Amino acid sequence: MLKNRNCGELRGEHTGQQVTLAGWVNRRRDLGGLIFIDLRDHDGVTQVVANPAVSQEVLRVAETLRPEYVVQVEGTVNPRPAGMANLDLPTGEIEVVAHHIQVLNAAKTPPFLIHREEDELEALRLRYRYLDLRRARMQRNLLIRHRAVKFIRDYLDLRGFLEVETPILFKSTPEGARDYLVPSRVHPGKFYALPQSPQQLKQLLMVAGVERYFQIARCFRDEDQRADRQPEFTQLDLEMSFVDREDILQLAEGLMIGMVAHACEKRTSTVPFPRLTYAEALARYGTDRPDLRFGLELVDLTAVAGRSEFRVFREAAESGNVVKGLCAPGCSDYSRKQLVELEALVQEEGAKGLAWVALNPDATVRSSVAKFFSQELMADLLAAAGAQPGDLLLVVADRTAVANAALDVLRREMALRLDLIDRRELAFAWVIDFPLVLWNEQEQRWDPSHHLFTSPQEQDIPLLETDPGAAKSNQYDLICNGFEVGGGSIRIHQRELQEKVMRLIGLTMEQARAQFGHLLEAFEYGTPPHGGIAPGIDRLVMLMAGEPNIREVTAFPKSQNAADLMANAPSEVDSGQLKELHIRLDL
Ligand code: AMO
Ligand code: AMP
Repeated sequence: MLKNRNCGELRGEHTGQQVTLAGWVNRRRDLGGLIFIDLRDHDGVTQVVANPAVSQEVLRVAETLRPEYVVQVEGTVNPRPAGMANLDLPTGEIEVVAHHIQVLNAAKTPPFLIHREEDELEALRLRYRYLDLRRARMQRNLLIRHRAVKFIRDYLDLRGFLEVETPILFKSTPEGARDYLVPSRVHPGKFYALPQSPQQLKQLLMVAGVERYFQIARCFRDEDQRADRQPEFTQLDLEMSFVDREDILQLAEGLMIGMVAHACEKRTSTVPFPRLTYAEALARYGTDRPDLRFGLELVDLTAVAGRSEFRVFREAAESGNVVKGLCAPGCSDYSRKQLVELEALVQEEGAKGLAWVALNPDATVRSSVAKFFSQELMADLLAAAGAQPGDLLLVVADRTAVANAALDVLRREMALRLDLIDRRELAFAWVIDFPLVLWNEQEQRWDPSHHLFTSPQEQDIPLLETDPGAAKSNQYDLICNGFEVGGGSIRIHQRELQEKVMRLIGLTMEQARAQFGHLLEAFEYGTPPHGGIAPGIDRLVMLMAGEPNIREVTAFPKSQNAADLMANAPSEVDSGQLKELHIRLDL
């Protein structure tokens, strides 16, 4: 090795030791005669001193050093002079007095500072990702990810799981996104699809008698990018035979708690994880992935508000829409301007307006809808909302879906404004009892809420014929801090039921056989009852690292518009390659 110590390692107790370090020049400070070099490697930063009293040659080399030069330093560990210790740096008690410095490689001036993050454009960071990754924050994120995955492998290995690789060149498995296709050279006009998840393959492994399968699996989905989405991402994909829902939830819960403790400094607050039904989540938080680090629950005010003279509220109550709201504590003094900001926020979600009632600390009331309410009715409204003196009640009347979406955004906004979020906390919870299918207004058909392999709850199977929308499924989602971090279900394991669900979501039997014939056929050869789950590794690591998006925890992510800005992919290919693939472009 060209080094015998890492740059984050040395402490006071190493005083007097001869060490060899190697790394990058983080910073060089010239103090007229003395030169200080912050030497950085993956592990941390150590201050190196070039002192002419020790060696003129060392000083001469130190003068030539520039940021990101790769150097090797031999020297002695010394305590820093009294009062000069740097408490922000783990190695801040000591410095290494260099006897010898060798430049291993020079470097061009980097396009951004490595040792200090400024708000350079993300595009620039992604273009020079290998430099961006040198930063301590990114090294830490890679470490958290490594620890998480290592923990997962050990945890599952101990419990008898087998890691099995499944193909990347496969056939479309629908998870609700567009497929990435790969043209076949050998089979003109035919395509592989990159898996959106290994869903079908892991079910086939259950038919194959594997019983406990997992895989750190790469998935590919061509969908619009968001902060928590990448076109390729990684799941912990797992599946078990002879289990019911409880088995999967227990296993995954233990896994999450252990992983968080092992990989990061955050804490999981509530054990066991709370469970919310889908209906409850929507009613109380307006979303099926609520952030449970804070309260601000929604209240249904339809009955009381419907008795007012306000036409908007009455009509909502009469037409089966809702009047819902939330109480923001201590906000009764909100100004017009602040209220207009909040109204604009809900309008972005499609709400028509935002009514408000301020219950002042002296119990007087100020409200945008005061003239439509008698004093008694206003008191009833505030009581129904559970408003306390000092609260600001914010109200939306609309179709349930619109009111929920608007209040979900408002709830998260108020939590930020009121500083209600404990950033050390990871608030996991389960959402259960999802509907099996959701109505797709655009396409006028039923879509699976999870995917078409999810089983309906036993008692609801007859509803598939009579009232499919009311049938509940054995789907469960794992949520954390407002993100869906995992989804799974107990599967259908009988061909007839699988075909029934396929018909329900509008597949003809011909289409079903063409797409899923292999699975339907397999189901006839003794398929055990089975179920599983797939936590999203990227999202979990993002939350454990406290990062705002999954690009920060992916070594080489795609940009917002699905491009690799470093390698410049996707890119054109030469006509010979296209010809081999039997492809002619029509742009
Ligand atoms: P689902 O589609 O819910 O389920 O995906 C499971 C989890 O994967 C993560 N995830 C993503 N992460 C980053 N970028 C994306 N584009 C992306 N899409 C999904 C989320 C999500 O909760 N086969 C089923 C699992 C099962 O039923 O066992 C599946 O893929 O964290
Ligand atoms: P208006 O009488 O139209 O001035 O509305 C009175 C108040 O009701 C204003 O604060 C509006 O923003 C609010 N408002 C209008 N439509 C709705 C709605 N659908 N839900 C909640 N508040 C609304």
